[in-house]
Amino acid sequence: MKSKVALTGREVRLGDNEQIISKTDLKGRIIYANRPFMRISDFAEPDLLGIQHNIVRHPQMPRGVFHMMWETLKSGQEFFGFIQNLTANGDHYWVFANVTPDQEPGGKVVGYFSVRRRPSARGVATIQALYADMLAVESNAGPARAIEASRAYLAERLGQQSYERFVLALQLG
Ligand SMILES: Cc1cc2nc3c(=O)[nH]c(=O)nc-3n(C[C@H](O)[C@H](O)[C@H](O)COP(=O)(O)O)c2cc1C
Repeated sequence: MKSKVALTGREVRLGDNEQIISKTDLKGRIIYANRPFMRISDFAEPDLLGIQHNIVRHPQMPRGVFHMMWETLKSGQEFFGFIQNLTANGDHYWVFANVTPDQEPGGKVVGYFSVRRRPSARGVATIQALYADMLAVESNAGPARAIEASRAYLAERLGQQSYERFVLALQLG
């Protein structure tokens, strides 16, 4: 269960070569978290293990982004994206995440891995504005239609380009 914490508006930044790594089961429950994850999120290992990854969910993240993430993972593909997360004390941190299915040698997916790096400043600025618009669309559409409306809005904003190409260009470009 995610507890409600007051947002401080303070941003915590990852170091240049720092990576936040976690591993989950098929439902997104955390089964491994590395030290940078604990340091930056301000959660201790016992707070994280066995807990749904939405423990770090930030209220300003559009639902449509997570819907797209799960859709991508369930189709067996890896997901790249900018994510804003919340720390235990209400600070926030932006990451560029690469989430991949964790496969057994026979190909069976047994969980997921996420490796997060420091995001590009240009990427965060661009994505922050886009996510704010998606959130507004979700709020106007109401809970039942939020995801559908937000996904449609994102598709319209991106045009021919996939979200993956868009974010990779922002991060690496
Ligand atoms: C490997 C993996 C890593 C994830 N990392 C994050 C993360 O860093 N932040 C986050 O908010 N959700 C993350 N999620 C998605 C969450 O499981 C969840 O779908 C999301 O927080 C939305 O939660 P909600 O449905 O309660 O709104 C991750 C999922 C997986 C499988």
